[in-house]
Amino acid sequence: MTQKRDRWPSQLIFIFAAVGSAVGLGNFWRFPFLVGKYGGGAFLLPYLIILIVMGIPLLIMEFALGQRLQQGAIGAFNKIHHKFSGVGLGTILCGCLVSCYYAVIMAWAIIYMFHSFNLGWGTDTKTFFFEQVLHVSSGAAEMGSFNLPILAALAVSWVLVYFCVWKGVESVSRVVAVTMPLPVAVLAVLTIRGALLPGSWDGVLYYLTPNFAALLDDDVWRAAMSQIFFTLTLGFGVMIAYGSYEKRDSDISRNALIVALINSGTSILAGFAVFTTLGFMSTVSGTPIEELAASGPGLAFVVFPKVLTLIPAPNLFAVLFFIMMVTLAIDSLFSLVEAVSATFLDRFPHMSKKVTSFYVCAFCFLGGIIFTTSAGIYYLDIVDHFVTGYGLVIMSLLQAVVVGWYYGADKMRDYINSVSSWKLGPWWSTSIRYIVPGCLTLLLLMSLYRDLTTPYEGHPPAILFGLGWGSVAAVLLVSGIFSYVSSQPEEAAEESASEE
Ligand code: TRP
Repeated sequence: MTQKRDRWPSQLIFIFAAVGSAVGLGNFWRFPFLVGKYGGGAFLLPYLIILIVMGIPLLIMEFALGQRLQQGAIGAFNKIHHKFSGVGLGTILCGCLVSCYYAVIMAWAIIYMFHSFNLGWGTDTKTFFFEQVLHVSSGAAEMGSFNLPILAALAVSWVLVYFCVWKGVESVSRVVAVTMPLPVAVLAVLTIRGALLPGSWDGVLYYLTPNFAALLDDDVWRAAMSQIFFTLTLGFGVMIAYGSYEKRDSDISRNALIVALINSGTSILAGFAVFTTLGFMSTVSGTPIEELAASGPGLAFVVFPKVLTLIPAPNLFAVLFFIMMVTLAIDSLFSLVEAVSATFLDRFPHMSKKVTSFYVCAFCFLGGIIFTTSAGIYYLDIVDHFVTGYGLVIMSLLQAVVVGWYYGADKMRDYINSVSSWKLGPWWSTSIRYIVPGCLTLLLLMSLYRDLTTPYEGHPPAILFGLGWGSVAAVLLVSGIFSYVSSQPEEAAEESASEE
């Protein structure tokens, strides 16, 4: 069976693909919106600290797990011990939930791509986004009707993803070679343009001035952590699956470091593009930056169109920019579809990748329909808050505990060091065994306390309960049952497998 496993054609392609998965709407849409929401420089410092303390060690761990055990997430944890297979399934389920709404943001980008030809957003980009594009309702309690253009664009998104993924590693490699280099060039142009606008410096100051008082606010830390997980695609089983297509002797720590640096570099650059423009918008309109920055999940769609209009050859650039957003979203999304398919194929080798990928795409499409209603952006924000704040955190916590304590952090570290050029010191084991689980538990308890005492963003409790807590509970329940079933005696597990 091992000889049939897909392989990356080269190390470079592996790095491209992992960067392709990491760099996505998380960098262009989520990062700037969190920086704005949590007060600019106040967010940046926790973000960087968490990147170093948890992000990089965990990315190394996920690559190592896949590469060492040569299995997708469920298979890898199942190999460590049957009763841990639920951890693998849980990560995959979190990924599916994120994909449901992630594709909706990609759908917005597709709609903007069409508006780019005539810069249809005009000068008031905020009203355009919320009213013309989203037909946003007054609050989460008012669901409103389905928005047909977004629904159609959502369907298009999934068709695109499906066609990119269905041939497996081979097609992934080809797509990423094109989608990877483009964004950096486009961002550089936008940043330079942004920097030349009057008022841009105020934006830069807002973005970079550290706010040490904010370090005491646990909400900022929670947001920073969720962003690191989201942006590095950690806790979704994706990096495990990608690692499993590597040969056992490929360099792990170097690759992880390259991926993490390129990814955060892109986010920080995107931040410059957004905040220089915000500084300008604030100067022109007289509205304080803080107020403009607080557009929440709509920020990228308010700010980027604005700066695009101010560039020479705006139409061309705008089209290029939104094509880029769409391609960035595609390679992040198909990394998930790939991870889920890999996992299923490990278990049911007779199924074909085309079939499993189709089911994943169809499932996530259906799950995303609710986000195309007039209250979609609120629902999206709620599910994002809960799935990244709890689902991912719990799954990553369990992963670190299983690898650190059950499999053995030092055993894994010896393996990593035997193949890598950058040798990890004992700090890595300490991080996986103590620091990561400790910090995650602490943040988990603090956010539990906060979310149980104050409803997130003041949304109606029934909606928070159904969409937010409900999603988290579903993931935990299904994974728990799966672990229980998988840890039953071999014959029973065999039987249920052959029934499928
Ligand atoms: N890392 C990607 C980004 O920053 C997004 C991402 C993370 C993702 N996990 C995912 C997308 C799971 C789909 C499914 O944009």
